[in-house]
Amino acid sequence: MSGYWPFSTQDITWSFDSGLPDPTTFPIDDLTRLSAAVLRDDAAAALQYGTGHDGGIMYGYMGLRHAIAERANARDGTTVDERSIVLTSGGIQGISLGCRAFMDQGDVVAVEAPTWGAVLMAANQLGAEVIAVPMDDDGMRVDQLEEQLATLQSDGKRLKMLYTIATFNTPTGLSMSADRRRRLVELAEQWGFLVMEDNVYGDLRYQGERLPTLRSLDQSGLVFTIESFSKTLAPGLRLGWVNGHPEVVAALSSVRGDLGMSQWLSRLMERYLLEGLLDPHIAQVNELYRSKRDVAVKALEAHCSPWVRWAEPEGGFFLWLELDPSVDVEAVRERALEGGVACRPGERFFGDADDGRQFLRLAFSMVPVEEIERGIAVLGGAIAAGRRV
Ligand SMILES: Cc1ncc(COP(=O)(O)O)c(C=O)c1O
Repeated sequence: MSGYWPFSTQDITWSFDSGLPDPTTFPIDDLTRLSAAVLRDDAAAALQYGTGHDGGIMYGYMGLRHAIAERANARDGTTVDERSIVLTSGGIQGISLGCRAFMDQGDVVAVEAPTWGAVLMAANQLGAEVIAVPMDDDGMRVDQLEEQLATLQSDGKRLKMLYTIATFNTPTGLSMSADRRRRLVELAEQWGFLVMEDNVYGDLRYQGERLPTLRSLDQSGLVFTIESFSKTLAPGLRLGWVNGHPEVVAALSSVRGDLGMSQWLSRLMERYLLEGLLDPHIAQVNELYRSKRDVAVKALEAHCSPWVRWAEPEGGFFLWLELDPSVDVEAVRERALEGGVACRPGERFFGDADDGRQFLRLAFSMVPVEEIERGIAVLGGAIAAGRRV
């Protein structure tokens, strides 16, 4: 991990680096109350390992799986039940199980460029070949994927799996259009590849119309969706899930190699969902993130706009900043750090380190709303000073 955090976090006043939820949104009172209630009513099961007979170890606590399936059905218009849900330690374990279950040495996997690095890292470890599909403001260029599929075929290869953050992509914050979603699902069926849909930011929409999940469009069973309470509620819960065809879910469970999720926290979250607390909480946090985005965009216009371009996201935590070629981004990052501002370097989001050098990812989620403008002003100063003359 050397070079991953190239600064001491103590020196950072404005951390635009990581996609962390704002800690002031954590629903501490409800979590305290429900945690105590579970211990009062159900301690023997809550503090025990899961039971074998109902898949409590391999798949997670049945009650929460059921509540998650019900919520997915209400949100997405699907008809899944608990057999389609496996609980995981955050979305990241769902991704890692998906890779371990379906990716072998020499397999070809596709990702968006840019993307979050977990699948790139897994492919590297497992010896899989990665192809990158470019994105534009409407998400993955599915037309280009089609060309890549034909090229693979003429090379005697086939695509095994595709990973997409179709809604509020990390790092761009942009989403795949509904038409492209439909086409991608058709292509998966036609060419027989799996689709791992990372939807950990999907509920954080504060503008525009909800887009259908790929999973809800799929009839073939090839699409499975990674979800999590980390971004909407609290990453410390370490509770996520995969929603897929029961056979896909069984394949993921068979490679998990742990003893399942916390029975206590799973029961707590079951109650949180059954009391109907999640969706009002999400509506509330989305108001906050919308105001943070608006303040960040205004500040970028005021302090950075001559040398920076961005597209405004309709949800999520990120702004993806493209700096003018006249700007030395490395120098900007150093100067910004000296001023107490951290942003994530763009090249972290590409398989090929030469790509993304003119980009910075700015996460506006965690910095207090009243601090955002001052931080972006410092960044703007660093950009102005970082121009090659
Ligand atoms: C795109 C994406 N997927 C998955 C995760 C994993 O989140 P968690 O494991 O906390 O659910 C993250 C976290 O930053 C992310 O950005």
